[in-house]
Amino acid sequence: MTRKASRTIWIGGTSVWALVAVPAAAQETTTATANPPAVIAQDQTDTVDGATAGDIVVTARRRSESLQNVPVIVSVVDQRALVTNNASDLSKIGELTPTVIVGAYKSNGGGSIAIRGISSPANQAGFEQAVSVAIDGVQTSDGRIAQLGVFDVQQVEVLKGPQALLFGKNNTAGVISITTADPTDHLEVTGRALYEFVGDELLTEATVSGPITDSFGARLAVRYRNLDGWLRNTAQPLANPFYRAATGAPAGAAQLPGASDPRPGDQEVLARLTLKGEPADNVTFRAKSFYAHNNDSGPGTATQNIGPCTGGVPRMYGIADPNADCVVDNRTTIGDLPAAISQTMRGGTADGSPYGRLTVLTQMVELGWKTGNIAIDSTTGYNYTQYKFFSGLDQTTYSQLAFFNDQRAEQFSQELRFTSDFGGIFNFMAGGFYQTSRLHDNNDTKLNDGNYNAAANRYSTYEDFSLQTGNTLSGFAQLILKPVPTLEIAGGARYTRERKNFMKKNLYGIGTFATQNTVYPGSNHIGELQGRFDDDNVSPEATITWRPTNEVTVFGAYRTGFKSGGFGLTSPLQTGTRIGDADFGSERAKGFEAGVKGLLMNGRLRFTLAGFAYTFSDLQVNTYDPARVAYTINNAGRVRQRGSELELNYEPSQYFRLHGAIAYTHNRFSDFVGQCYGYAFPTGTTRATAVPPPNCSFVNATALTLQQSFNGRAPARSPDWAGNGGGEISIPFGGYKLAITGDAFYSGGYYAAETMAPSTYQNAFWRFNASARVAEIDDRWSVSVIGRNLSNRYYLLYAADRTGGTSVPGAIGEQRGVVARGREIALQLAGKF
Ligand SMILES: *[C@@H]1O[C@H](CO)[C@@H](O)[C@H](O)[C@H]1NC(C)=O
Ligand SMILES: *[C@@H]1O[C@H](CO)[C@@H](O)[C@H](O)[C@H]1NC(C)=O
Ligand SMILES: *[C@@H]1O[C@H](CO)[C@@H](O)[C@H](O)[C@H]1NC(C)=O
Ligand SMILES: *[C@@H]1O[C@H](CO)[C@@H](O)[C@H](O)[C@H]1NC(C)=O
Ligand SMILES: *[C@@H]1O[C@H](CO)[C@@H](O)[C@H](O)[C@H]1NC(C)=O
Ligand SMILES: *[C@@H]1O[C@H](CO)[C@@H](O)[C@H](O)[C@H]1NC(C)=O
Ligand SMILES: *[C@@H]1O[C@H](CO)[C@@H](O)[C@H](O)[C@H]1NC(C)=O
Ligand SMILES: *[C@@H]1O[C@H](CO)[C@@H](O)[C@H](O)[C@H]1NC(C)=O
Ligand SMILES: *[C@@H]1O[C@H](CO)[C@@H](O)[C@H](O)[C@H]1NC(C)=O
Ligand SMILES: *[C@@H]1O[C@H](CO)[C@@H](O)[C@H](O)[C@H]1NC(C)=O
Ligand SMILES: *[C@@H]1O[C@H](CO)[C@@H](O)[C@H](O)[C@H]1NC(C)=O
Repeated sequence: MTRKASRTIWIGGTSVWALVAVPAAAQETTTATANPPAVIAQDQTDTVDGATAGDIVVTARRRSESLQNVPVIVSVVDQRALVTNNASDLSKIGELTPTVIVGAYKSNGGGSIAIRGISSPANQAGFEQAVSVAIDGVQTSDGRIAQLGVFDVQQVEVLKGPQALLFGKNNTAGVISITTADPTDHLEVTGRALYEFVGDELLTEATVSGPITDSFGARLAVRYRNLDGWLRNTAQPLANPFYRAATGAPAGAAQLPGASDPRPGDQEVLARLTLKGEPADNVTFRAKSFYAHNNDSGPGTATQNIGPCTGGVPRMYGIADPNADCVVDNRTTIGDLPAAISQTMRGGTADGSPYGRLTVLTQMVELGWKTGNIAIDSTTGYNYTQYKFFSGLDQTTYSQLAFFNDQRAEQFSQELRFTSDFGGIFNFMAGGFYQTSRLHDNNDTKLNDGNYNAAANRYSTYEDFSLQTGNTLSGFAQLILKPVPTLEIAGGARYTRERKNFMKKNLYGIGTFATQNTVYPGSNHIGELQGRFDDDNVSPEATITWRPTNEVTVFGAYRTGFKSGGFGLTSPLQTGTRIGDADFGSERAKGFEAGVKGLLMNGRLRFTLAGFAYTFSDLQVNTYDPARVAYTINNAGRVRQRGSELELNYEPSQYFRLHGAIAYTHNRFSDFVGQCYGYAFPTGTTRATAVPPPNCSFVNATALTLQQSFNGRAPARSPDWAGNGGGEISIPFGGYKLAITGDAFYSGGYYAAETMAPSTYQNAFWRFNASARVAEIDDRWSVSVIGRNLSNRYYLLYAADRTGGTSVPGAIGEQRGVVARGREIALQLAGKF
């Protein structure tokens, strides 16, 4: 029963128009040169190989090259597109690029990014993502990056396919490389205010940028965003059916409060300070400090019940919730905790209301030195991320499943790179990379209000603590040969050594979670599960590029990728847990890619056509181990990927442009038998009479345990077809101009859940957006109306089995899902001085 998960709902008009104050940035104006709109002075592109006027410069090979010439499939989103689309975070950047799906799921792993249908599950802290994000050359593979507003950005490059050689490991599927804006060579003040009507969202942004001395410049960018919320929390006060007076629990726990915040939203403050200069001849310096703080009503409110539900309402441990629904829409249900229970939990609030708080601090310092034909670059990065939340997570008013979670990650990295510029037939790039990291996690978990322990005054089932430390050492070298001017052969390899140490213990626990006295094999502390991970990898890569004319580039490449193994921090610790349940090995990718890039019709039509064939092996997945009747993190199976992509940009005149892209990606599993989705057998079923639910089978002839073979099926969130198309018209009149844009996006169907539960199938869908903008001809100010998701489709980005939702005999377990925001209509005012 493949339910149509997305419904078309029309919100009754968009009649509420509000006034937005002009940004208060109108200060002094020293140089009001009529600079072209979004082009901010960048001086690193002086020696670009074969770049023609109006060409796009990319750093896909860690050097400045023309997009047209680089033998890598890159989708570029420039600043102009970012501003006209209000693409203020990674998910929106993902929407601008077919085959890129970004989902921000706040709990656990923090988010998942897919390129060409390859992603890592978001439900494990400790899994690296298959796509890494490099901000100003410093990489992170922490899924939480998907949550952070990306702002004041110069350019985004999406590099598709493994990029191990130059970007290091942890990018078996690709790299999103973000370059933030640098100081300008004259004083510039910009401001932007945006109000979105459906979600009641206000966004303000300001930047101040300019020279300080002849050789130093600075730029400060800040953003404040307040979203009231497009979701409505339907939880209402109810008597607590799980309350057991016999346990001695206080009477306050007998009443559930409902939701204190019916429109859960979030608040965000971001700031970035950039300093850039040339302290001496041939020496460049760039430092970026970034601070982000985001608070919201916890991760529970970001997901909702999507069914299938017996009787139209979800159940928690078999008890129906009259306030909730089971439809993909703009409603969610998460009850606050009774104050009497909240106050006994670590991190609980006095009134039982949920929260989520994210704090990020990063520092990047880049030093460049040019001596003769060699450039030496050093990039140092430091990172601190803390995410703390307290929330019910079962998507019902009952909030029986509730957590406090405190995750802290700290990383330091140093890269040194030598790049030659001999101009002749031979060039090289070589370097080294070191990284050290620390991941700390404290989790207090309540599973049922009936579990009151009067002696400890706790309702929690367990509280755990885990710590993972790691260090990475890596070296790489690439040779580039140009035997004749039209031919280039590049080859190289990266060596990586990875070490990790892991420790987990329960600070409190009942039943099998009381592990204080458990002696875990191989561990030297009673009550602690310990593990150590060691791996080496060599990832080679070779590319042949032929540039018969300035307008055509043809290339073929062999590429490999590697994603480190480690430990899953999320699985609970029980007396029977073994280190083999938490550890997992490295994931690998290898394959071929070929492409043609060309400029036709005097450069008015630009196209890129690519074909690729990769194999991803030892995928990092959560699987069911029938021998031990437990879920474990494992390496299983392979994905065989075959596909092709075509991207077109046509600019018949300066007033009119069209673009389109279409991608076919055939990803299929082999050798992968994993877990079945949740299912409750009819009462009284025996193995002899049992019938497995669709696509699942029994592990053997004696047990009622289910498994599922995924062979021949596409992974979750991997549609076969995706594409987009649109255009922009710009009409000058008097001293003004009017610009109108329209776009359509298509995605084929996919399963949103790793377990491929039938109700998580998202049918193919279209999305539309459009905008209109009136601006002064030199862009000193502009007013825009921006519309997104105009057909108001709610669609599934991610789904999973809902804990406590497998309670109706003979029925498939209920699912929870992250649903894409529906229609957005916004008014934006922007100024630049
Ligand atoms: C949204 O609209 C802009 C133009 O306003 C377009 O460039 C972009 O591709 C659109 N995004 C989607 C997903 O359609
Ligand atoms: C790659 O993954 C390893 C181990 O999972 C992690 O420690 C490291 O930070 C990642 N490397 C990069 C460059 O992101
Ligand atoms: C949710 O959608 C309904 C119509 O489908 C609309 O009436 C309601 O205002 C929406 N709620 C929010 C919070 O946007
Ligand atoms: C975020 O924090 C501010 C100040 O601490 C508080 O006033 C606001 O209510 C918080 N917002 C949410 C959604 O929790
Ligand atoms: C700077 O570089 C140029 C060209 O590479 C060279 O001629 C000059 O001597 C260098 N200056 C210093 C101080 O190294
Ligand atoms: C730290 O993480 C942030 C956000 O998650 C990211 O922007 C940055 O690149 C990371 N830095 C390092 C050194 O890993
Ligand atoms: C905390 O524990 C719960 C219960 O097992 C688990 O589902 C959740 O993923 C854990 N969170 C983290 C970040 O470890
Ligand atoms: C069948 O599976 C169950 C549980 O997974 C296991 O305990 C039992 O040993 C298995 N029986 C056989 C014959 O393999
Ligand atoms: C079972 O798997 C096949 C693909 O192998 C799929 O087409 C079908 O829809 C699945 N059935 C259900 C009920 O999910
Ligand atoms: C549609 O809604 C989703 C959910 O927020 C959002 O990620 C996406 O940006 C929207 N699509 C467009 C084209 O605006
Ligand atoms: C503009 O960007 C903000 C920041 O993420 C987003 O929340 C808002 O919904 C966007 N507005 C539109 C109309 O897309």
